[in-house]
Amino acid sequence: MASVVSVEGLRKRYRHHDPWAVDGVSFQLEPGQAFGLLGPNGAGKSTVVKIIAGLLRPDEGSVQLFGADPGNPTARKDLGFAPEEPDFPKFLRASEVLDYFASLLGLDEAERKRRIPETLQFAGLDGERRQVRQFSKGMKQRLGIAQAILGRPKLLILDEPTADLDPLGRRDVRALIDRLKDSGVAVLLNSHLLSEVELVCDTVAILAKGRVLKEGTMAEVVPEGRSLEDVFVELVQASAPPRDQLPSFITDKDKS
Ligand SMILES: Nc1ncnc2c1ncn2[C@@H]1O[C@H](COP(=O)(O)OP(=O)(O)O)[C@@H](O)[C@H]1O
Ligand SMILES: [Mg+2]
Repeated sequence: MASVVSVEGLRKRYRHHDPWAVDGVSFQLEPGQAFGLLGPNGAGKSTVVKIIAGLLRPDEGSVQLFGADPGNPTARKDLGFAPEEPDFPKFLRASEVLDYFASLLGLDEAERKRRIPETLQFAGLDGERRQVRQFSKGMKQRLGIAQAILGRPKLLILDEPTADLDPLGRRDVRALIDRLKDSGVAVLLNSHLLSEVELVCDTVAILAKGRVLKEGTMAEVVPEGRSLEDVFVELVQASAPPRDQLPSFITDKDKS
C-alpha cells in the first residue's frame, strides 16, 4: 500500500532570485502516524505542507499524496488541511462556513445534520451566532480545524494549529490528534511549540532554511535526559551565524 505522504528531494523557491524556501526535503508518513515538522520562522514548514496539499508546485523533487499527485481529486478527498491563517467569507456564521465546506465535500443532508453541530461543539463554537468578521484569531483557528476534520480525512494537516489557541483549545487539539492516530489517521503537524509536539508526535523532522537538520522518532532525535527544546535550539543555532541576544542599547548600563 502507498504511504499517506511521500516526498522526495523537494525543492521550492518563490522567485528565481530568492533563496530556496525548501531545499531537498524527503520524508514519508504512514497511517496512524503523527509527524511533526519543526523549525524556526521561515524554515519552510508551511511551504512543504502547501506542496503536499497541492496548493503549490515544487520546482524539483516528487510528492505523492496517497500514491497520487496532490492535484488528484480522489486523493484530495481524504485530505483535511487547516492552514496557518485560515480565512473565511467574513459575513458567514460558523455553521454556514461548515455547511459550505460540507457541500464542497459532497456530504448529504443527513450527514450534514449530524456532523456540523458535533464539529461546532468540538471546536467550542456551538451557540456562536456572530459572523466570521467578528471572530478573534483563535476562533478562526478553531473554525479552520473544524473545517479540516469535517470530511473525516485520512490525512490531517495542521499548520501551527495551536498558535492562537487558549489552553483548553490546545488540550482539545491534542486529544483530537491522539484519537485520530488511534483510528489510523495520519497527522502532519507544523509547529514551533515544542512541548506540544513532544506530547503527540511519533516522528519529527527539524527544519531550518529549507533543509532537514535532523529526523527520526522522538527517541532518536531527543536523547535521554534532554528535551526537544534543547535539541532544537542547539541544531538551529549551529545552522545560523551567532548573534547577540539583545540590542546593545537595551543592555547599556548608563541610560542617556
Ligand atoms: N508567498 C511567498 N512569496 C515569497 N516568499 C515566500 C512566500 N511564502 C513564504 N516565503 C518565503 O519562503 C521561506 C519559507 O517560508 P515558510 O514556508 O512560510 O516558513 P515557515 O512556515 O517555516 O515559517 C521564507 O524565507 C519566506 O520568506
Ligand atoms: Mg508557517
